[in-house]
Amino acid sequence: MAIEALSWEKGTLILIDQTKLPEELTYLYCKSVNEIVGAIKRLSVRGAPAIGVAAAYGVVIGVNSINTDNHGQFFKELDKTISFLASSRPTAVNLFWALGQMKNKAYQVKDKSIGEIKHILEEEAIFIHNDDKDRCRKIGEYGASLIKDGYTILTHCNAGALATGGMGTALSVIYVAKEQGKRISVFADETRPLLQGARLTTWELMQDGIDVTLICDNMAGMVMKQGKIDLCIVGADRIAKNGDTANKIGTYQVAILAKEHNIPFYVAAPFSTIDFNTSNGSEIPIEERAFDEITIGFGKRTAPKEVKVYSPAFDVTPSSYIKAIITERGIIRPPFKESLINLT
Ligand code: MRU
Repeated sequence: MAIEALSWEKGTLILIDQTKLPEELTYLYCKSVNEIVGAIKRLSVRGAPAIGVAAAYGVVIGVNSINTDNHGQFFKELDKTISFLASSRPTAVNLFWALGQMKNKAYQVKDKSIGEIKHILEEEAIFIHNDDKDRCRKIGEYGASLIKDGYTILTHCNAGALATGGMGTALSVIYVAKEQGKRISVFADETRPLLQGARLTTWELMQDGIDVTLICDNMAGMVMKQGKIDLCIVGADRIAKNGDTANKIGTYQVAILAKEHNIPFYVAAPFSTIDFNTSNGSEIPIEERAFDEITIGFGKRTAPKEVKVYSPAFDVTPSSYIKAIITERGIIRPPFKESLINLT
């Protein structure tokens, strides 16, 4: 698994520009907080864990540009940078989690010199990044125990290496199962409107030589009915305390279809995606995106200019549809409220 969605080199955050995939593999070299906020907003870097890692490096870039030896001024600027990064996208809780880690670290060492604080924050961002790699690997190892040789797995959106600091969440399960010698096939939903499944998941799986078949979102029911799918796995942007899970728009209907066809539906996510301050899915803020992401598709206008549009980027799957949540601490089964707390 050689794909690295992000890397850090001498004060620069290097991102694969995911808006250009699959046609071009190009990189963005971010040297300012503005550039990172822009990259998150337009989905050059996307996927809950990857957004968190990018934001942590954003804090480092932000503090490195603060020129003061006054602690009060430094922390004022730090707080402003963190709020600006937090404004980039609302749903993935990993963003706020990573920014919280960075803020706590800064305040823990507030009595050190500003130079030392900057250095400690850089180490913290690198730690968050490496930690995400470890978590991804462990999710894959736990999840692979659910996968039998010959399975065909349906996934929605992209919860792979492109979406994390490591080898992915949902796709990590597939990568590890393959490493274990299991023969795995994947059906990837194209994931309208921005086509993360078609553009990113298929590309990523093909890089790794995994058998993948692309379907339009509205074909999932048909392929399930035809008995082609053994199991569904998706990632998550935020999991409430009761297990309700926000993920890319369309995930909810996959979960309903899976239940109807007696196909187990799993969510794979690190603990940084669990929001213990959110008691259930109705409290999760859902991002709404620009209408032209729906009305201009495939490089041309696909709906009348004046048409009314509703464009939520995520939906919430009630926990009752989720067979288990695969985390780096183990496979969590219902009742989620109790089992999630037990693993904290
Ligand atoms: O809008 P996106 O592309 O950031 O949405 C991404 C998803 O919904 C992923 O499934 C989720 O973030 C999990 S990534 C491991």
